[in-house]
Amino acid sequence: MALITLKQALDHAKAGGYGLGAFNVTDITQVEAVLDAARRTKSPVIVQTIAGASAFGADELFWDLIMRTVDHYPEIPIVVHLDHGPDAPTCRRAIGAGFSSVMIDGSLDPVTHQIASFEANVEATAAVVEYAHGLGVSVEGELGTIGASEDGSNRREIVLADPDQAVRFVAETGVDALAVAIGTSHGAYKFTRPPDGSMLHMDLIDQIARRLPTTHLVMHGSSSLPADLRAIINAHGGALPESWGVPEDEKARSTKLGVTKINQGMDSHMAWMAAMRTTLDADRLSADPAGSIAAGRRGMTDLVAERMAIFGQAGHAGDYEPSPFRRPAAMPLLG
Ligand code: 13P
Repeated sequence: MALITLKQALDHAKAGGYGLGAFNVTDITQVEAVLDAARRTKSPVIVQTIAGASAFGADELFWDLIMRTVDHYPEIPIVVHLDHGPDAPTCRRAIGAGFSSVMIDGSLDPVTHQIASFEANVEATAAVVEYAHGLGVSVEGELGTIGASEDGSNRREIVLADPDQAVRFVAETGVDALAVAIGTSHGAYKFTRPPDGSMLHMDLIDQIARRLPTTHLVMHGSSSLPADLRAIINAHGGALPESWGVPEDEKARSTKLGVTKINQGMDSHMAWMAAMRTTLDADRLSADPAGSIAAGRRGMTDLVAERMAIFGQAGHAGDYEPSPFRRPAAMPLLG
């Protein structure tokens, strides 16, 4: 089984009325953590990574190791997805590495990082769709912009997705999945109080899903930022400010409204960091990183396994048909 496309996974999730977590990884033992959680809970799974955002010096090495790790979990349907590909060459690199799905984030200009026009977003996305679909690879696009903050002070502007534009965007690009900005942000600093409907626009998901019943909707910035994990991190030398994320019940509810892919990375990182910092503090004589890295991996496995149960994907690994998707034999030329 192993490698399947995002479309295959999300079609199955939609038909089965469940959601799929898309878990960000920045290190190969985080890949192991996510796949171990999938094995433990018998879940289909989406592993995703952002170009340049890993502990590795070179994407190509990390991406190759991800693909090899997938081969160790033959009983699990696994999507390997590029998260927030900024441009076509990056998406082509990921496809060349064997990823079965890419996101082209045309919502921001890849050079200026300013918000791109709708037309520029459509043009960039449609070009990646044409290339990727020719190789059987799924594509996610983004409409509106999701917020982000490095430190809680400087925030990237949030532009909510517009339902009319969503309909046009899907028609003009042919994307398999659409990330819709509904007020969430990436990272460890999200809402300044528990979010209500004026901050977290679940109604938008409902409106867009009614207009696009066959398109898969994606919720980004879905980490909950658990207060207990923040407390552990801060008790062991961290200084994460108080912040609120997307409540677990809202994520579960989103899957009933039309979301099939739920992106979260920061919660996994917090689970990892809490376990790692605790272990480092408990054994100050150790200079070998293996013990604390393994503790981080186990902490992350536990959190991801819990989320798989909440999203409803647990128990569905055995339901999938074999996938026709195959990794390309050779890297396509970059263009
Ligand atoms: P978090 O930053 O909330 O974990 O979201 C991750 C994400 O949306 C990646 O695309």
